[in-house]
Amino acid sequence: MKNNRSYHDPVLLQESLKYLSIFPEGVYADCTLGGGGHSFAIAERLGPQGRLHCFDRDPEAIEYASQRLAAFKALITFHPVPFSELENEIEASFLDGILYDLGISSHQVDDSARGFTFTGDQPLDLRMNQREDTSAQGWLRQISAEDLSKVFSLNADLERSNRLAFRLIEKIATISEDILPRDIKSVVESVFPDKRRDINGILARVYQAIRMEVNEELSQIEKSLRGAVSCLKTGGYLVVISYHSVEDRCVKNTMSAFEKDCICPEKLPVCQCGGKHRLLKKEVRKPILPSATEIAKNPRARSAKLRVYKKI
Ligand SMILES: C[S@@+](CC[C@H](N)C(=O)[O-])C[C@H]1O[C@@H](n2cnc3c(N)ncnc32)[C@H](O)[C@@H]1O
Repeated sequence: MKNNRSYHDPVLLQESLKYLSIFPEGVYADCTLGGGGHSFAIAERLGPQGRLHCFDRDPEAIEYASQRLAAFKALITFHPVPFSELENEIEASFLDGILYDLGISSHQVDDSARGFTFTGDQPLDLRMNQREDTSAQGWLRQISAEDLSKVFSLNADLERSNRLAFRLIEKIATISEDILPRDIKSVVESVFPDKRRDINGILARVYQAIRMEVNEELSQIEKSLRGAVSCLKTGGYLVVISYHSVEDRCVKNTMSAFEKDCICPEKLPVCQCGGKHRLLKKEVRKPILPSATEIAKNPRARSAKLRVYKKI
């Protein structure tokens, strides 16, 4: 087992614990187990009657974290499935708090065999679960340049997305073997030849845009959050940490549908639904950001935003 620090440092840990309002007999779900940093801290605060349900679609995360959390075995149930399955795995009105720490773990990025790195000879992969069907390579080989361009601008707000998409598809057509990080990098450098450009920053966005499609990240988030509202008890808390604007927007938009009293179509002049449909309220008006101290210790935290909702 690798040491805990090298797998993933939990982000906004104290803030997550505070807003989950953990009590010893409570029942919680960590939908993004990863290295188990948040789960460990939640489990430490539970008594013998408390329970924790841990989800991750990555079998490596489940294996690693289940060893790390072995001391809390009696309290924890592991769910090695995508978090879109939350509502199928957990009863309605069952949970006192649910945590999402979205995106990928440091381990997934750092382990070159996972195919998330910008360097090396490992084929581009980007699957959170390598047993799932389509890797980034497979996905890139079947998409058109027009659709790839849309993915770049919608998922990562990339400049020159059209040129980038066309050159990348042209390049891929010439590759009969695996697509390697240097293939992507050479295309990015050809589209952004200015040496002063932050090529790694652009590569990060290119990878993010492709990764979001390969793992169907936005539809996963939307489906799971809808299920989370149903799985929460009245008075329960939903804590969501996102890492970029597209992810954060998806969280805000999905949740806003549950913050409205009236669900009538906009064109109706008078409310006919009874106006009592509101299920959530924001617990904090603005998202909570990591402190400068946390960012200095863990640069991965720099783009994190934590939102909190309460079921009413
Ligand atoms: C940022 S890491 C979580 C780190 C964790 N909070 C910790 O303290 O170690 C995100 C984790 O969520 C998992 N994940 C992302 N999307 C998922 C999904 N749709 N279903 C299940 N797990 C998912 C990833 O595999 C990854 O392990």
